Amino acid sequence: MKRDHTRTPLIEAIRRHRTANPISFHVPGHKNGLLMRENHPFFQGDLTELNGLDDLHDPHEAIEEAEAMLADVYGSMKSYFLVNGSTVGNIAAILASCEPGDTVFVQRNCHKSVLNGIKLARAVPVFIETEWSDFGTALGIRIEAVKAALKEFPRVKACVLTYPTYYGFSYTIKQIIEEVHKHDVTCIIDEAHGAHFTLGSPFPESALECGADIVIHSAHKMLPAMTMGSYLHIGSKRVNGRKVKEYLSMLQSSSPSYPIMASLDYARSYVGTFSGEDLDRTLQDVSFFVQAVERIHPQLTVQQSHDPLKLMMKLEGRTGYVLQGLLESEGIYPELADPSQVLLILPLVKRDLSFPYEEAVSRISSALKKEPVVEVSPGIKSIPLDRKKHFSTLALTLEEMDGKAEVLVPLEESEGEIAAGMVTPYPPGIPLLVPGERITGEIIRRLEEYIVNKANIQGHHRLADHCVFVYRLAEGNR
Ligand SMILES: Cc1ncc(COP(=O)(O)O)c(C=O)c1O
Repeated sequence: MKRDHTRTPLIEAIRRHRTANPISFHVPGHKNGLLMRENHPFFQGDLTELNGLDDLHDPHEAIEEAEAMLADVYGSMKSYFLVNGSTVGNIAAILASCEPGDTVFVQRNCHKSVLNGIKLARAVPVFIETEWSDFGTALGIRIEAVKAALKEFPRVKACVLTYPTYYGFSYTIKQIIEEVHKHDVTCIIDEAHGAHFTLGSPFPESALECGADIVIHSAHKMLPAMTMGSYLHIGSKRVNGRKVKEYLSMLQSSSPSYPIMASLDYARSYVGTFSGEDLDRTLQDVSFFVQAVERIHPQLTVQQSHDPLKLMMKLEGRTGYVLQGLLESEGIYPELADPSQVLLILPLVKRDLSFPYEEAVSRISSALKKEPVVEVSPGIKSIPLDRKKHFSTLALTLEEMDGKAEVLVPLEESEGEIAAGMVTPYPPGIPLLVPGERITGEIIRRLEEYIVNKANIQGHHRLADHCVFVYRLAEGNR
C-alpha cells in the first residue's frame, strides 16, 4: 500500500460541501433533509453530482481518488465503487466476459445474480459440482472437477467461482485459477463475503492475490459499509475494462447514492488502516465469544468456519429455525437459519471500538436456559456425494426455454422433470431449482425441508400449494 488510508476523499468532499451551509435547488427532493419532519443528519449527506462531489459514472475528482485508494488497498489494476451490491458486479463481470453462446463454468452453489448474469449474457452454464459437509452445507469445488470440465469443454470462456461460500468456507482457488488460465479462461471470483481477506492470516488467501481476473466484494457484508455498497476489482489484462465500465454504467442508477459511496470510502479506509493489534483484538473477542457460548448448553455447539468471523451454531435435536426463534426471543438476530444450524457473522472490530459480546452471551444464556436436553436419534443424514460426477449441464437451452409452456406439478411428483422457474431459499440466495435443470429427488427433499420450516423461498413457484413449474418435453424426448 502506497497511500495514506486514514484519508477519505469523498467523505471530505461531502463535509466541505456541507460546511458552506448550502441551499438545495437540486435533487434529491428532501432538500438536504429539510422536508423530513425530523431533519436527521443522515439525509444531509444524501447529495447528488454537484461541483466538487464528482460523478460515479465519469469520475475525475473525489470519487476518482477514492477508487484509486481502493485499488491501492487491494492491489488491483482498477477498482470501482458499486451502489447496487455485488449483484450488479457479478452481472456486469459476466456480461463483459462472455458473448451469447459462450460456455461458462459456474459453481453450482452460486448466488442467483450469477445465474441471472449468465442468462442475460445468453451464455451456456456448465455447473461444477460442489462438495457438501455432513450437515448439508455447500463447500467448495475440487480441481479434478474443473479439469474434467475443461477436457469436455476446452473452449470455455469464463469461470465464475464463489469464494468463500456464504458460510465462510474457502478452498484452493489458486490452483483452479492457474488451471483455467492455461486455457485463457477469464476467472471471475464472487468474493462477496471476503472483502476482509486482504488482511491476511488467519483469513483465507484473497482472490486477487490468487490471480483472479475480476473480483467482486460486498463491502456491506463484512466491512462497515452501507447495504448495497460493494466493490468490483479488475486484476488482470485478460479483462476488457472498457466493457466492464460500460456495463456498470448501464446497470447502475444514474443517481448513485452518496451515503452508500461515502460508506464505501469509509470501509476502504477502515480496512486499509486495520492494524495487527486491531486484528489481535478482533480474534481475542471471537475466541472469548466462542468459548463462552459453548459453555451455555450441553447440546449447543459452535463451529468456526475457515473464516473465523463466520460461526455456525447448532442445538442438537432442533432445527436451525427453532434455534433462531429462541435467540430472537432475546433480541439476538443471526444472519440466517437453515435446517440444521444458524449462521452468525461476527464483526471486524478495531481496538478503539467495541461490540457487546458479553451482553450477547448473557442473552443467549437466557434464550437457552429453559431448553431441556433432548434425546437425539443418531446419524443426521449426510448428502451423498457422487464423486464421479464432476459437472452437469442444463437439459434445455435458453432458446428452447424461450416461450415454452410451463406446467404446474406437485413437488413430490417432479423428480426427473425440468424446472421452469428459479426457486431460491433466501437467505442465502442460492437457487435450489434453476430453469432448464432436471429436478432430483435430493432437491425435492431439501425443498420439503425448507417448506416444513416455513423458510422464505423466493422465485417462480407455488410451494405454498406444494407445486412447482416445469417444462414438459414431447413424449420420447424425456
Ligand atoms: C455469494 C454472494 N454473492 C453475491 C451476493 C449478492 O450481493 P449483494 O447483496 O451485495 O447484491 C450475495 C448476497 O447474499 C452472496 O451471498
